[in-house]
Amino acid sequence: MSTQSPCLKTVITGEYPVLVRRIAARIAELVRFKPNAVLGLATGATPIPIYEALVRYHRQEGIDFSRVVCFNLDEYYPILPASPQSYHHYMQNNLFRKINCPTWHVPSGEAASQDMIEEACHQYEMQIQNAGGIDLQLLGIGRTGHIGFNEPGSQRHSRTRLVNLDRETREDAVADFGSDKDVPRQAITMGIGTILEAREIILIARGEKKRTITQLAMDGPVVAEVPASYLQEHPRVSWYLDGALENNLPQLL
Ligand code: GLP
Repeated sequence: MSTQSPCLKTVITGEYPVLVRRIAARIAELVRFKPNAVLGLATGATPIPIYEALVRYHRQEGIDFSRVVCFNLDEYYPILPASPQSYHHYMQNNLFRKINCPTWHVPSGEAASQDMIEEACHQYEMQIQNAGGIDLQLLGIGRTGHIGFNEPGSQRHSRTRLVNLDRETREDAVADFGSDKDVPRQAITMGIGTILEAREIILIARGEKKRTITQLAMDGPVVAEVPASYLQEHPRVSWYLDGALENNLPQLL
C-alpha cells in the first residue's frame, strides 16, 4: 500500500494580469489567515507585477507583513548585496522597501571560502527550518527548466548550495549585467529538496519562450534534465500559465 499523498496538479490559465491578481490574492489571503506566514520568493521579470500587487494590498488594504518571514530562492555568486544586479537589491527595491516586512533573507553572494559558503548554505536551511518551513513558495521557470538556479542535472534531494550556471541562463542575464563577461558563472540556490518541502507551491510561466520547457516540466517524465519536472511529485502545486502557453493547452493537459 502506498502511503504517498496524492499529487494534485492544478492548472490555471489566463491573461498574465489576471494570473498576477490571482497569485497576489492567494498570498494576501495566506498572510491574513496566518500573519506569521513563511513565504518563499522568486526573482526574474515575471514576479515583479505580483510584488507590485502586494505593495497595493499593503498600502490600500492594510495587509500586515510585520510578522511574515521571507526566504528568497537564490542569489548570484559572487555579487555584493548592494550591486544593482543582485537579487538582494531586486527584492529590496521591488518589495521590501515598500511593505512592512523586516524579516527577509536572500542567500549571501558575497565572496567567501568554500567552507564559508557551505556553512552559510547550511545556515540558510536551518533558518528556514527554524521559521517553521515555507508555507508558500513562489517560482518562475528558467529556459533550461531550472527552478531557483537548480540547473539540469540537479538532484531530487539537493539542498541549498553553490552551483554553476548554464550557458542559456547566463545569456538571459546579459541584459541585466550589460555584457557576457560580467554575468557571474555561479549562484547560490535553495535545492530541489528544499523547494519541495514547501507546503504549497505556485509556479508562474509567461511567454512563448517558456512554452516547450513548461510543457516538459508539467507532463514529461520526472528527470534531473528538467528540474521543474520534480514539481510533479509535490502534493500541492499550481501551474499558472499565461495566454502564450494557454494556446498549447490541449497538449499540456
Ligand atoms: C532567474 C531566477 C529564476 C527565475 C528565472 C526566470 O533565473 N533565478 O528563479 O525563475 O530567472 O526569469 P524570468 O521571469 O525573467 O523569465
